[in-house]
Amino acid sequence: MNMLELIEKKRDGGVLDREEIEFFVSGVTDRSIPDYQISAFLMAVLWKGMTDQETADLTIAMSRSGKICDLSDIPGTKVDKHSTGGVGDKVTPILLPIVASFGIPCVKLSGRGLGFTGGTIDKFESIEGFNTSVDPSDFKNKIDKCGMLLGGQTADLAPCDKYLYALRDVTGTVPSIPLIASSIMSKKIAGGADAIVLDVTCGSGAFMKDTDSAKELARRMISIGKLAGKPVTVVMSSMKQPLGEMVGNILEMYEVVSVLQGHGKEDVKKVVLTMASEMLALTDVGKGKTKQELMAACEEKIRSGEAFERFGELILSQGGMLQPDGTPVFVDRPVDIMTVYADKSGYVSSCDALTVGEASCLLGAGRMTKEDVIDMGAGIRLHKKIGDKVSRGEELFTMYVGTKNPVSDDRVDEALFKMNDAYEISDSPVTPPDEILEVISS
Ligand code: URA
Repeated sequence: MNMLELIEKKRDGGVLDREEIEFFVSGVTDRSIPDYQISAFLMAVLWKGMTDQETADLTIAMSRSGKICDLSDIPGTKVDKHSTGGVGDKVTPILLPIVASFGIPCVKLSGRGLGFTGGTIDKFESIEGFNTSVDPSDFKNKIDKCGMLLGGQTADLAPCDKYLYALRDVTGTVPSIPLIASSIMSKKIAGGADAIVLDVTCGSGAFMKDTDSAKELARRMISIGKLAGKPVTVVMSSMKQPLGEMVGNILEMYEVVSVLQGHGKEDVKKVVLTMASEMLALTDVGKGKTKQELMAACEEKIRSGEAFERFGELILSQGGMLQPDGTPVFVDRPVDIMTVYADKSGYVSSCDALTVGEASCLLGAGRMTKEDVIDMGAGIRLHKKIGDKVSRGEELFTMYVGTKNPVSDDRVDEALFKMNDAYEISDSPVTPPDEILEVISS
């Protein structure tokens, strides 16, 4: 077998068999296939696509390209969750303590943010002392201690995906549904989950810009789950505007605390409670219960304060620091540098997720390249969201930077320009977008 034949076969619309896909994955992993051939192959896949069987074979081969986490000594169904990414997406830090408080072991391996999307690992690292490098040999210990753990993806978990993703990033081959589906699912399978709940975001601030492609991605990942013997549920959520009112690492963690203390915006709560109830539905806790009952039970965990308590336990278990009131100690402090007020009265008709994400990145809250250092205090607070009534002179948004290494005034000006572009105000009432577009189960 040789790589040129595989490239030509895919270029001409052929279907690869398992051996050919395994040849490709092992050649990427041991670096025996040069980058130019891998890139050509990725481009052929982007144009010609892959069948469900090819996508599943690619996923399984990639999941086996490194270590597979063995969580079998942790009793119970291990349900993992993953989001295809978005702006202001702080679902994981709220959802983990809720689900863990039902006795469901939660092993969550997350990524860092790149570009306009934030990463869960960065958000937790905004807490003083919080250590996200958890060795798999310590997983059981951490689960015994507090029922959950939050770790970074280790280099030996699906290394083939890591290499492919870096190449996709620089060859214009990220937006291929079979490549995205296999990338996500290979890491979830290698992470050792028994069942998986996926938040497939859809809108300007997401990979999937329209519902048809989000549905197709959902269908692919469910199909991979079936072929891999893992139940998969997909929650399709809107990323037309950022989730909640805060964008930026410490700012989002402020919002996490607020939601766990029973406050916070309805859109965040809706996505969190939907995802949490779908996770419970895949375990024994969900047996014989309706989704409404499960959502109400999750809400009760917030109301009773149990979820907030569990959040504190997670922080302490991973070396993070808490204030006497149970809220985290952060590595920095967001400083508000500018608030912009509405220049007319009306209804907010746009608060574009992509543009807000880019503005937040310009303020230092995100990375332009993998090497960039994040300003944990930077970000944006959205006082108004789509559908909100606004009067002339009312606060629209506030921009923040941290105290340690704030970006230049030029970057702030650029961010301001983008934010003014992100918002639109119309004269007539506007219906806010539904947060949950659809829930699809295998
Ligand atoms: N997230 C991933 O892990 N991989 C992709 O290809 C896209 C989003």
